[in-house]
Amino acid sequence: MEHLTGSSSDTGQAVGPRGSAGGGFGVPIGTSAPRAAFSTDAPRLSLNGTWRFRLAPTAAEAADGFWAPDFDDSGWAGLPVPSSWPMHGHGRPAYTNVVYPFPVDPPHVPTDNPTGDHRLVFAVPASFGEAASLRFDGVDSCGRVWLNGVELGVTQGSRLPAEFDVTGVLRPGAANVLAVRVHQWSAGSYLEDQDMWWLPGIFRDVTLLARPAGGVGDVFVHAGYEPDGHGRLRVDGPADARVSIPELGLDGLATGAAHDAGPVEPWTAETPRLYDLVVATATETATLRIGFRTVAITGGILTVNGRRIVLRGVNRHEFHPELGRVVPLDVVRAELELMRRHHVNAIRTSHYPPHPAVLDLCDELGFWVVDECDYETHGFEPVGWRGNPSDDPRFTDACVDRMRRMVERDKNHPSVIMWSLGNEAGVGANLGAMAGWARGRDPGRPLHYEGDRSCEHVDVYSRMYASHAEVDAIGRGEHHVPDLPFILCEYAHAMGNGPGGLAEYDELFDRHPRCQGGFVWEWLDHGIRRPQGDYAYGGDFGEPLHDGNFVIDGLVFPDRTPSPGLTELGAVYAPVRLAVEPGAVTVRNRYVFRSLADVTLHWDVSADGVVLQEGVLQPPAVPPGQHAVVEVPPAPDAPADGETWLTVRALDPAGLVLGSGQALLRQAPERQESGRQASELAAPGRPGAAGGAARPGGGVIRLGAGRFEPVHGRLVRLGDLDLRGPVLDVWRAPIDNDRLGPDPVAARWRAAGLHRMTHRLVGLQLDGDALVVATRVAPAATDLGLLTWFRWRPAGDGLELTVRVEPEGDWDLPLPRLGVHLELPDELGDVTWFGAGPGEAYPDSRTAALIGRYSSTVDDLATPYVYPQENGNRADARWLTLTAADGTGLRVEGRPRIDFTARRWSTAALDAARHRADLVPDGRVHLHLDHAHHGLGSAACGPGVLPEYALRAAPTTFALRLLTLA
Ligand code: GAL
Repeated sequence: MEHLTGSSSDTGQAVGPRGSAGGGFGVPIGTSAPRAAFSTDAPRLSLNGTWRFRLAPTAAEAADGFWAPDFDDSGWAGLPVPSSWPMHGHGRPAYTNVVYPFPVDPPHVPTDNPTGDHRLVFAVPASFGEAASLRFDGVDSCGRVWLNGVELGVTQGSRLPAEFDVTGVLRPGAANVLAVRVHQWSAGSYLEDQDMWWLPGIFRDVTLLARPAGGVGDVFVHAGYEPDGHGRLRVDGPADARVSIPELGLDGLATGAAHDAGPVEPWTAETPRLYDLVVATATETATLRIGFRTVAITGGILTVNGRRIVLRGVNRHEFHPELGRVVPLDVVRAELELMRRHHVNAIRTSHYPPHPAVLDLCDELGFWVVDECDYETHGFEPVGWRGNPSDDPRFTDACVDRMRRMVERDKNHPSVIMWSLGNEAGVGANLGAMAGWARGRDPGRPLHYEGDRSCEHVDVYSRMYASHAEVDAIGRGEHHVPDLPFILCEYAHAMGNGPGGLAEYDELFDRHPRCQGGFVWEWLDHGIRRPQGDYAYGGDFGEPLHDGNFVIDGLVFPDRTPSPGLTELGAVYAPVRLAVEPGAVTVRNRYVFRSLADVTLHWDVSADGVVLQEGVLQPPAVPPGQHAVVEVPPAPDAPADGETWLTVRALDPAGLVLGSGQALLRQAPERQESGRQASELAAPGRPGAAGGAARPGGGVIRLGAGRFEPVHGRLVRLGDLDLRGPVLDVWRAPIDNDRLGPDPVAARWRAAGLHRMTHRLVGLQLDGDALVVATRVAPAATDLGLLTWFRWRPAGDGLELTVRVEPEGDWDLPLPRLGVHLELPDELGDVTWFGAGPGEAYPDSRTAALIGRYSSTVDDLATPYVYPQENGNRADARWLTLTAADGTGLRVEGRPRIDFTARRWSTAALDAARHRADLVPDGRVHLHLDHAHHGLGSAACGPGVLPEYALRAAPTTFALRLLTLA
């Protein structure tokens, strides 16, 4: 038996004893020819379960002779398989984005190479038969395998299957001993530099498959959809096999020949129609779920079944906050269903083929899938791409092997409409070799690789993070780029609070035929659950080199609950657009293949959020891509007391909202007036004038229900309510999109001192029935300032406040926010408002918010971003109340509208926090009432805030009313 020698152990190379000479760098040894994943009636035995495990810090210190069947492993730990062992207390996870966590010295890897020895004793029934194969669906990064003391070979290519023929080694009717030595690092690690945690282990299923002689080894189903509505079928498989599709009355078809399958219902992501196809030999019957569909690029447009599609997609990694790379199938199903409910119709399997069952679910639920090879060499970029495996002939075999294993495994999935060579692997001949192989094997699917900008090897022009302007220019044909379908394989970086600007991208996909959509980066935050109940990110495991929270950039939190970014995406990706006007709604069907025959329109008329009238309409069966105008009942005749809205929602039969829209029917009379009032009060005079005026008394200043302290001129009491504030506030706890990227705006904000503004009372003056407090709000060490007047007037049980802000100095940077901050007693925990909601909204992310009346709590208004940052804004409130359990509290009225954020900690505390657990209530409710916010953008990776959503420092007036609730 051969053993790994010192030099081969550090590259993951070895010589397999069963006749296969290992070759190349990162190539498996001793494995059988790759083939499709499908189930058959031949016996199979799952070897998942609790194995014996021992971790050694180096390959050299791994357990000697542990593969011997009689080795005593009784002192070893138990470990579930599949697993990522650092998630079970063995070693630690580590996160890097671009860089390798080891020297760039291919193919060598560190001597300190965590090595996990795994053992399993398992019984095989005698009926299983002699002929069998042992399949590993994923081993990170390489595993040397022994069965019953016989070395079978070495796996490579972490996210790809490896099968070993165990015929003659397996002992049916007896106990068998499987031993697997997994090295964290191998030559293959150079090809697996995806932006994610480094998590070694046997992380996908291990299965023993009976392989009856004369069985169905491999099957390649070619199922096209013809313009005449017929299916075209060819099944490559064993020559003596017979093919049938009982539902279509097809029986006994020969393999290798083209057949007209007759009229079929096509498969599309919108209509995922599957048929059971049976391939049978004398000894084995395989069943596959197939779909008829034809992918083509015609006239520079990507089409399926002859129609232009738009990829409204997400990038999906495989990750679980407690299990690492192991994602239970019920979790996968739930997450794909969650995607569907948010109208995601496409998945890029970034940046490796997923667990094979994921693609079964994609076939069933309906997604356009770009299946990406397990290949990324991004860590060569920092060294100028010197030595990049993509152009190193020593790695050619490994590259082609990876492409081949992906294509062979996944070739029968109708959902897979494109192959991707990998991600961020530079350029080089090996990419051409991968493309060439795939093209030869499967001419039915276009090829993708973003790194191939000249499109020498690929069929679509792909980019990541192109700005809106650039996408528009490409759509208009103004850029010198290849005349191919254009897709954004990554866009709208969903890190932390954001992304902003989704609606504007979607509009471009609608407008320009060749702009065929893209994939938001990314679906999931890869946070690792901490004992504190929150989530770890890079650096939390003491990694000497890491990329912090850049791994927390998803549309859903690590436990897969939606973040506001997903809610926004759902509204933007909505397949039905409703343009509502008083009395009518234009219904636009953005589906490509589905009519709206089964869709109903649910409408209601509400005044200040209270529904007055509602009903359901059946629109005509609007065909795909078409629109229709539907009459809806006009506003009720009886004048309603308040702001009256018509809201329309399109629902599918399961009650899923496919689109929604609103129209203002009538403005509330008092709000029309309040709008005027704010502008009338626009210019209360220069602060110098107030400063010169006499100050009323030395003690507390009374104005109506308000009490003010004279030192800063701040309100301290309103009726019976203790409060502190309002003070002008321009700071927000920087969001990732403020903090990161090449020119982070938060660095400019901090340099200017916006996080440490000082407040100087300039003057305090009674002016008729008003109290005018003039302040200059400014950061230390600069001559920038914001002259601010608070003009207070009694208003019933409360006070009316008009705030006028005039910038002084050269404000060449946007403001994070512009509003006021108040501190309130912490009992005011219940919140109700009439405005946009129910969720968080910012200027460039508010498609999902509808005007209505909503209730929540201060605790629930906060969005628990894994890395704490500004969050929770509710937009355009006409009014809001914060109340204690007994109903007492504060009512705020926007004059006419105000954004608000309420939380139990200050912005400074939010800014200082690094994990959720750092956020501790400070005994107050912090209420932010904002006239405006800077947008969110996507600058953590990609374009910043669009100019129309940037908050410029400019003379501004806004007004509100504060009232107590007794
Ligand atoms: C891309 C890369 C992704 C991810 C993203 C930033 O360049 O392909 O894997 O790193 O940037 O989050």
